[in-house]
Amino acid sequence: GEYQNLPVFEPGLAQIVKDVRGKNLFFSIDVQNSIKIADLIFISVNTPIKSHGIGAGEASDLKWVESSAREISMYAEGHTIVVEKSTLPVKTARIIKSILESSNQNLGGDLGKTFSVLSNPEFLAEGTAVNDLENPDRVLIGGEDKTSIDLLKEIYLRWVKSDKIITTNLWSSELSKLIANAFLAQRISSINTVSAICESTGANVEEVALAVGKDSRIGEKFLKSGPGFGGSCFKKDILNLVYICKSLGLKEVAAYWNEIIKINDWQQDRIYRTLVEKLYGNISGKRIVILGFSFKANTNDTRNSPAITICRKLLAEDAQLVIHDPKVGEKDVFDALVGSENIINFEKRLIYEINIPKATENADAVLIMTEWEDYINLDWKKLQIKMRKPSWIFDTRSIISPEQLKRIDLNFWQLGNGESY
Ligand code: UGA
Repeated sequence: GEYQNLPVFEPGLAQIVKDVRGKNLFFSIDVQNSIKIADLIFISVNTPIKSHGIGAGEASDLKWVESSAREISMYAEGHTIVVEKSTLPVKTARIIKSILESSNQNLGGDLGKTFSVLSNPEFLAEGTAVNDLENPDRVLIGGEDKTSIDLLKEIYLRWVKSDKIITTNLWSSELSKLIANAFLAQRISSINTVSAICESTGANVEEVALAVGKDSRIGEKFLKSGPGFGGSCFKKDILNLVYICKSLGLKEVAAYWNEIIKINDWQQDRIYRTLVEKLYGNISGKRIVILGFSFKANTNDTRNSPAITICRKLLAEDAQLVIHDPKVGEKDVFDALVGSENIINFEKRLIYEINIPKATENADAVLIMTEWEDYINLDWKKLQIKMRKPSWIFDTRSIISPEQLKRIDLNFWQLGNGESY
């Protein structure tokens, strides 16, 4: 029904909306009245990277944050707590405050409006958002005014233990969000450099990650090598951090964090080059199946998906691509690849296919890009019969165990597995 058609696919979300819609969850486009009656307003708007002007390619575009603050200042009545939920550069609260504080003057005369600004960054990850909300590692609230902090804390206390709720000053809170994402992305780039070392030495990155991660100071999570991080946050937040460092004159610090993005790009380029090399340095006209187009499993989000980068490179080599994803639809796949430079007539060489046996028919290679559960137990013994020989599987997510392919007429390359050649 209508709940199946939420604009985002997120496990568990449709059920929540179904349960509480019309009870204590309401959707409205009446901005003016909603602001007027609100005690607390979360600003959760988009803050993409600026495409032009000062800071283009690095700084966050704050125009939607600013216009939200302006609308709030216009329509709010009495005391209103304004909470930054969007990920923002450090010191954005200052901008919001200054706009809100000017509101009484705006309409000539003291209208008795008062505001306090809090920072309450969001740490949920796509695909596990509902669980991350229900069982957060921590809730972070930054602010200056204790009454407002306590009021927001009160809401979280309904399901989060008080020792998990951290309160800090505004700037620490804003900065912590960027740093948390930078540290997470850094782990991925680190393990991805290790995947390359493993391939050249006969080591196995899964084994190294396990051995290293068992050290409780390092920890086991977020040590999975793959085609690099995608999603709407990591790259944007690091670029933003780099921009802030540069603005502060911290050149070396900016270069340090920027390296994480460079390694991420390098990893994707490396995968593409490996595939071309294995297929005798020529993929023109060859049929390559892409399994998975979303940036990770359990989401239909394709923003910054490594699959996009790699597909563009393969199309530029005149390959024929057959793309499969259980949740990303045909239109989104085409939209993501349109506008690619140096790719001529690519529409004719791009096929969307939801049936895997059909997709792999006559294929020269299968490239696994997303760790969807659907791909873990595919019957390769059967599928390979109809592939063109010599046929290849490239597994960038380590979801196939080499055992599965024993005695099957398939060549197998697995990222970070020095034994899979
Ligand atoms: C990320 C953070 O994990 C959240 O804490 C944060 O709130 C969110 O950004 C945000 O700022 O909004 P998300 O981008 O949804 O969440 O997804 P992640 O699970 O972090 O995955 C990001 C990318 O890293 C994916 O492409 C994933 O495949 C990749 N990844 C993740 C790895 O390659 N290896 C890993 O071990 C983990």
